[in-house]
Amino acid sequence: MRTFIAIELPSDIKQHLGDIARHLRRSDVQAGWVKPENLHLTLKFLGDVEQTLLPRLTEQIDDLTRRQSVFLTDPDGFGFFPSPASPRILFAALKEPTPFNSLVQHLDHRLLPLGFAPETSFHPHITLARIRSSKNLKNLRQMITDTVSPPRFAVTSIVLYSSTLHPDGVHYDAVHRAYLHKDSLQPKTASRQPFY
Ligand code: 2AM
Repeated sequence: MRTFIAIELPSDIKQHLGDIARHLRRSDVQAGWVKPENLHLTLKFLGDVEQTLLPRLTEQIDDLTRRQSVFLTDPDGFGFFPSPASPRILFAALKEPTPFNSLVQHLDHRLLPLGFAPETSFHPHITLARIRSSKNLKNLRQMITDTVSPPRFAVTSIVLYSSTLHPDGVHYDAVHRAYLHKDSLQPKTASRQPFY
């Protein structure tokens, strides 16, 4: 089963980003745009995972979320991966360092014994489009400088998703969801110490 761990976006944020994407499409850049319902923030891509590994995976995710408070995101405009000069991905950015960075470090630490390699360079982002050619990129570059970020939102859970290809495109299904603490909303420093 192809899987990844991600943050599900609230539906109003998906809609807001969907509206932004619809606006940016007017740049006529050649790209595959992520459907609003599929927008998410990937923490860790796991790839193909054996069904038998799922209980150990979900146990680690559950244990991690028990030690993490709900926090607010800090949206920070839009950008390109791997670089603005040769962009392949258009994304909505989040200010760094964020609680996402420490979450991923802790996920890496917990999932290494299960055989998952640590992330080499994690930058929290929400992929909006996968760019296919350099045609009209100038328009898109210009447009994102004038585009306002979506509002902040509260991160309340971490989701293990499966990804399957269907004739109408990719489907993401929540296989397991683990909730963060609701004791406080801490905008900047979310993790309580000690973490482990
Ligand atoms: P992205 O948001 O950074 O684009 C589900 O497929 C998610 O897993 C995608 O949104 C993508 O994250 C990430 N992903 C897909 N294939 C990947 C791969 N081969 N390596 C790393 N991440 C991948």
